[in-house]
Amino acid sequence: MNNEVTIRFAERMSQLPPYLFGMINKIKMEKRWEGIDVIDLGMGNPMDPTPNKVTEKLCEVAVDPKTHRYPVAGGMKNLKREIALFYKRKYGVELTGEDDVICTIGSKEGISHLCLALLGPGDTVLVPSPFFPVHVYAAVIAGASVLRFPLGSEEEFLRQVSSMCQSLYPHPKLVMLNYPHNPTGTLASREFFVEMVKLAKRFNFMVINDFAYGQIVYDDHVAPSLLEIPGALDVGVEFGSFSKSYNMAGWRLGYCVGNKEMVGGLAKIKGYYDYGIFSAIQVAGIVAMRDCDEAIVEQVAVYQKRRDVLCEGLARMGWEVDKPKAGMFVWVRIPEPYVRMGSIRFSVEMMNRANVAVAPGAGFGEEGDGYLRLALVENENRIRQALKQMKRALVEIDQEVKAGTFVLQPDAPQG
Ligand SMILES: Cc1ncc(COP(=O)(O)O)c(C=O)c1O
Repeated sequence: MNNEVTIRFAERMSQLPPYLFGMINKIKMEKRWEGIDVIDLGMGNPMDPTPNKVTEKLCEVAVDPKTHRYPVAGGMKNLKREIALFYKRKYGVELTGEDDVICTIGSKEGISHLCLALLGPGDTVLVPSPFFPVHVYAAVIAGASVLRFPLGSEEEFLRQVSSMCQSLYPHPKLVMLNYPHNPTGTLASREFFVEMVKLAKRFNFMVINDFAYGQIVYDDHVAPSLLEIPGALDVGVEFGSFSKSYNMAGWRLGYCVGNKEMVGGLAKIKGYYDYGIFSAIQVAGIVAMRDCDEAIVEQVAVYQKRRDVLCEGLARMGWEVDKPKAGMFVWVRIPEPYVRMGSIRFSVEMMNRANVAVAPGAGFGEEGDGYLRLALVENENRIRQALKQMKRALVEIDQEVKAGTFVLQPDAPQG
């Protein structure tokens, strides 16, 4: 008798490419184990502290045994009410804070499970590219087909959605938006959202807007919420996150607000998967939402300075770069001749030669290849240092290319 068990994954697993950032992170961790100081511009993982008021509240509440029980699934009433008040205060949106708000274990979990609630085989989702991976793969895992199209200008975006809705049968079921956009830092105008809501009603599709960077906006620009558009509550939801606004990435706290049926669908599916978020974290989240507007302003000022140091430094190296209007990243095209390496090899070379971690644009879809995404999480001095080290690495590459020992192509020559 054969005692061996064959481990067989579900078919959906074959749809998932290796997580590209995993590879870069692995090299980073190996270097750090060796005691090498890697400057990390790779992941949007905030390094600045959570506001004191929030950590103090967590510590105070965490010692109360009542918080050690299973929490209220879907979020505490007071936190949901605070989220509704935030929407009223910032965007003039009227929410009850009951069946139109649900708390999630970070927005990524919420987006994933909402896709599972809304989508299945035979459904089509439209996602602009480049994209944050979960916006595509949550739909893929749910069994839906994903149609990607270049992000482009707002006009082009709307034209593409309209044309795909007319030509595809069955019509797309969902459009996945992410404004402010990761990785490009693009902001949507209010008018864009107005047109999107009109299209949603005309072609009967739902809309999700991932608003994780809604509060990280520079130079007096404003990021409108999808929900402030009349009629938006009929067609969609928006996801918010505590991770970026309040430097609470490890706490895993986010929320989904908007259309009650969609929120209800997420609540139903989450009911089978999880028991909610540690109550002490939820109580601390109330303090963040209620008392930490000033901390956000200070944090955005910090990111804006880092953005300027990084963009100006890259420009001095001869790179063409636009300062992002929002988000935590600089999205920049790798200049000639180095772009011939492709973004993955370029990133690996920067890690190996410069001890600088960057995110290869290819990790955000094919349309992102040729670009890098640089996170604004390291301080200004370390950003300057990273630029110096990258510059040195590029000089080294130039010399090797001249000597014929390095070929500018996506994969290192074998042998
Ligand atoms: C666009 C976008 N959405 C969602 C997330 C995940 O946020 P959370 O920590 O709330 O799960 C990220 C994190 O990098 C992100 O960039």
